[in-house]
Amino acid sequence: MPISPQFIQELQDKLDIETVVGAQVALKRRGKTLVGLCPFHNEKTPSFTVYPDTRSFYCFGCGAGGDIITFVRRMENLDYVEAVKTLAQSAGLPMPEDGYDDSLFRQRQRLLAANREAARFFNAQLNDPRNRAALDYFLRRGLTPNTIRKFGLGYAPDDWRQLTDHLKEKGFTAQELVLANLTRRSDKNGRTSYYDSFRNRVMFPIIDLQGNVIAFGGRVMDDSKPKYINTSDTPVYKKSNGVFALNFAKNSNENRLILVEGYMDVIALHQAGFTNAIACLGTAFTSEQANLLSRYADEILICYDNDEAGRKATRRALEVLGKTGMKLLVVQMEGGKDADEIIRTYGPERFADLLNGAANRTEYRLLREREKYNLLTDDGKLRFLTAASSILAECGEIEQELYAARLSNEFGVSVESLKAQIRSARGRLRRQAEKEKQQQQMTLLSKSAEDHNNPERRQHLRQARAEETLIASFFRNPDFYHKLKDSVSPDDFVTDFNRRVMRTLCGILDAGLTPELSLFAQEFDPEEMATVTRICRSAETLHNSLQECEDCIAVLKTSQQQTAPQTVAQMSDEEYRRQFAALKEQK
Ligand code: CTP
Ligand code: MN
Repeated sequence: MPISPQFIQELQDKLDIETVVGAQVALKRRGKTLVGLCPFHNEKTPSFTVYPDTRSFYCFGCGAGGDIITFVRRMENLDYVEAVKTLAQSAGLPMPEDGYDDSLFRQRQRLLAANREAARFFNAQLNDPRNRAALDYFLRRGLTPNTIRKFGLGYAPDDWRQLTDHLKEKGFTAQELVLANLTRRSDKNGRTSYYDSFRNRVMFPIIDLQGNVIAFGGRVMDDSKPKYINTSDTPVYKKSNGVFALNFAKNSNENRLILVEGYMDVIALHQAGFTNAIACLGTAFTSEQANLLSRYADEILICYDNDEAGRKATRRALEVLGKTGMKLLVVQMEGGKDADEIIRTYGPERFADLLNGAANRTEYRLLREREKYNLLTDDGKLRFLTAASSILAECGEIEQELYAARLSNEFGVSVESLKAQIRSARGRLRRQAEKEKQQQQMTLLSKSAEDHNNPERRQHLRQARAEETLIASFFRNPDFYHKLKDSVSPDDFVTDFNRRVMRTLCGILDAGLTPELSLFAQEFDPEEMATVTRICRSAETLHNSLQECEDCIAVLKTSQQQTAPQTVAQMSDEEYRRQFAALKEQK
């Protein structure tokens, strides 16, 4: 019995993996991940890791891995459907009726097509001289034509039917348009009529990670109310999941995101070069949004408006985001009510200063540390200065300079010796982090080298790596897949196992779903899920660029001319690692 992907996603929104696994394994938080003793093999030091960001687990000791369904299957020795039933029961969700028809899927595709056409329509309105006021509105707010194009901004004309008529002409039914929330239905005096939802508003399309237009926000151009009208929930949009501009921000490769309140803030920030800015839509910040963000960053800079509503929203965001283990910084928004205003008034440098100011929790951390020691004794001073150096080791150079000078003044030690101390603490931190990362990466690599799920891997290492990089990259960047799907297909894959993984992934992405490991669990048994998880997790080491994907495709396309491949067994670890690195550096 096939179970619909929508149900699996709903299930996972209800049950987080920490809770499901945590009920059976004692877990300890370590940053964004949780670790514990592996329930699938005997161990004394924890190598079992839970990743809430991809809702997966992986054991670096025995190589077990997968999603929550796989976890339950393994723990309780169940088949796929039984495991889903067990989970549905604990989530309090009724199992869906037997089977599912794909009419829902087809409907989603239609609504996405209607949205895309609407976005085109709104954008084209800006070229019409009659709508000069709308274009002027954007220009007056400092947006360049380039930015307007990049974000696909537009205008909904001051009319009751233009969009509806246009889309009907394109073959969409009134019912579809109402479902997409583009059109409203009125039944006055026993007569049914349809009218545009957005009228005389500048339009902001909301684009998901696949590049689909899933919703719109429309703003008035004066002070009338309501200021914004937004698409309400539709079959393709859940407001409580909406994140604006994550489709762009995920490619900034910054490992941190700037969270602001409004559409205009995001756009102004991107235009000013802060391409990692996003806004969470909907009224209250949700854990679904927090989870999504944690897939793309380790750190969030919260830049909410400098007013009571903004402070309230900050408290809420801190609470919800706190649960993900991401590093959170609250930026004091001084000099304007929001990011857009600050940038417009003082320029990007000022905003950059504010961001750096947020990192200035350092002052706070130093104060808290100081309270722990008796600074009247030499021993207390020494121990405080050592601890302070470790704190400063995590900071930027300017901060180090500043605080080293202050501490030197206060404690009568030389700036040089403090800096030497900071340097060695820094080196220690970096080496430790490097080592951990490398160890994990090596484990992933050697585990995949001996992987019996993909026996062809040894013979075709180069191609297999390229296949895995493509899978991991598309898993993280669905928009890359949509851009490249005409130039690569599962049939180009050399190894059978990876071809199956790719085929499943294509199915997920073509259905417009957010890739989740649990969507593979129907096709892959728990043993195989470990490999799928390992491949998808290796996304952490990717460049995440289209170029990288194109390089991999080139490897697959030229694979026929390959000379006899060296087997992994003949390679030293170092050679093996170099081969892996070489693939990434082919640019
Ligand atoms: N918002 C909304 N409906 C409203 C008001 C606000 O959906 N009636 C959302 C919008 O996503 C908006 C965000 O909350 O972007 C922040 O609201 P606000 O600070 O009032 O608007 P700005 O985005 O700053 O808009 P502007 O700068 O154009 O005034
Ligand atoms: Mn604003």
